[in-house]
Amino acid sequence: MPIAKIAPSMLSSDFASLAAEAHRMIKNGADWLHMDVMDGHFVPNITIGAPVIQSLRKHTNVFLDCHLMVSNPEKWVDDFAKAGASLYCFHIEATNEPEALIEQIKKAGMKVGVAVKPKTPIETVFPLVDKIDMCLVMTVEPGFGGQKFMPDCMPKVQSLRENFPKLDIEVDGGLSLDTIDTAAQAGANVIVAGTSVFKAESPKDVISTLREKVES
Ligand code: DX5
Ligand code: ZN
Repeated sequence: MPIAKIAPSMLSSDFASLAAEAHRMIKNGADWLHMDVMDGHFVPNITIGAPVIQSLRKHTNVFLDCHLMVSNPEKWVDDFAKAGASLYCFHIEATNEPEALIEQIKKAGMKVGVAVKPKTPIETVFPLVDKIDMCLVMTVEPGFGGQKFMPDCMPKVQSLRENFPKLDIEVDGGLSLDTIDTAAQAGANVIVAGTSVFKAESPKDVISTLREKVES
């Protein structure tokens, strides 16, 4: 399995202090920062766009894992690349031409991720895996932080891991010290955690325990 990466979801941070919150997470052991981009159309919520990524990029060199919960993901590739996004993860449900989009993202200089919602069969990404850097298996319905982890998404992670031993597999939604064992055993190695890290008394302890569970 590829190495563990812990990616705190900045959706749970205080957006008014984004740079300080990012530094706090990095200091506490975060490998990546997970940036949730929502357009109020693909999901029933609005969060941030490329201008916020651009502002944050001025304060840190950390890997920015951008999760695009948007319709027409083709439209924002260049803006996110210019803003300093490290990885552009689009939803398979949001495009009819995933292969062209993957090429567009690579050409723009970013790593590529493909995300699947809980009800989307994982086989839809199988033909794309050799062209991408990461697959994101949602473990809640996208749209909001603080929801309950859905263990019934784990067979998808398992099947991906069996078929693609070297792939970065990210899980997102409801990950905590209570749910990490299930996700790690299924084969996930990139762990997004919003509420469980930001609301913790010691984010450092939570991040290091999440990492240990993936590595064990
Ligand atoms: C949900 C987002 C997640 C969310 C995770 O649509 O994609 O990244 O912020 O937050 P928690 O860990 O609180 O479920
Ligand atoms: Zn996310």
